[in-house]
Amino acid sequence: MDIIKDPQEMHTWSREQARQGKTVCLVPTMGFFHEGHLSLMRRGATLCDRVVVSLFVNPTQFGPNEDLSRYPRDFERDMALVRQEKVAAVFAPTPELMYPPGYQTEVRVKVLSTYLCGKSRPVHFAGVATVVTKLFNVVRPDVAVFGEKDFQQLAIIRRMVTDLNIPVRIVGQPIVREPDGLAMSSRNAYLDPANRAAALSLSTGLAKVREAAAKGERSVAMLADMLERHIHSFAGARIDYASFIDGDTLESVATVDTNTVLALAVHIDGKVRLIDNGYVLLGSRG
Ligand code: PAF
Repeated sequence: MDIIKDPQEMHTWSREQARQGKTVCLVPTMGFFHEGHLSLMRRGATLCDRVVVSLFVNPTQFGPNEDLSRYPRDFERDMALVRQEKVAAVFAPTPELMYPPGYQTEVRVKVLSTYLCGKSRPVHFAGVATVVTKLFNVVRPDVAVFGEKDFQQLAIIRRMVTDLNIPVRIVGQPIVREPDGLAMSSRNAYLDPANRAAALSLSTGLAKVREAAAKGERSVAMLADMLERHIHSFAGARIDYASFIDGDTLESVATVDTNTVLALAVHIDGKVRLIDNGYVLLGSRG
């Protein structure tokens, strides 16, 4: 497995794969791998001849008061995990290599970036769209795999690729959960035992909504009220948003149908912000 830091070297590596007729799948990550990341790599290996994992904690997608400095990192552990997968190369640039002096360009997906997480994280999605564009230009993948846990991010990247005619196929990979239902996330490393218990408010809330919808409840007002009471019954859990949205446009809906997604962001103990999502009517899409 090659570990490449320099964007030019990465580009040359990818061109060589293309010259040999090999397809390349990119799995963009910020490291601190868990089973969710490994599932993206495994999916990539089923889709292309070569998997490239990018590992870059992108500073431009963190707001001034967010967790950039404490974002969990462990390069050696990550390399040990990734070596067990069918990964041909890891692209791990430094911030200076990605954003050299004089850097000033930004990619922004104007409308989708303002919903949901965009409300409390106003710079986040421009940072994501910009770095993902750069990663696509450096690696030139045929396919890129993203986790469905970041539902809004995936919608934004699909929009961006269409709007900018970027020749890459975007594949979404389902959420991987802990046995008790908690969606896997690098940020789960921040949770102490009490907060870990409160973190279950998201997945159990989603399950309660699905149960009520399966019994016939279609009113978002009713479901949202039940969900809010459920999440706030967990000590330390405070809703950032709990939105019933159309799975394609991300716009709010008033009545549940087969394309309705529940998107959740919850602050735990004021310290950790977790997200989760899922189609409300199981068997419809999710
Ligand atoms: O989902 C992530 O880990 C990041 O937002 C991404 C796509 C790697 C861009 O930095």
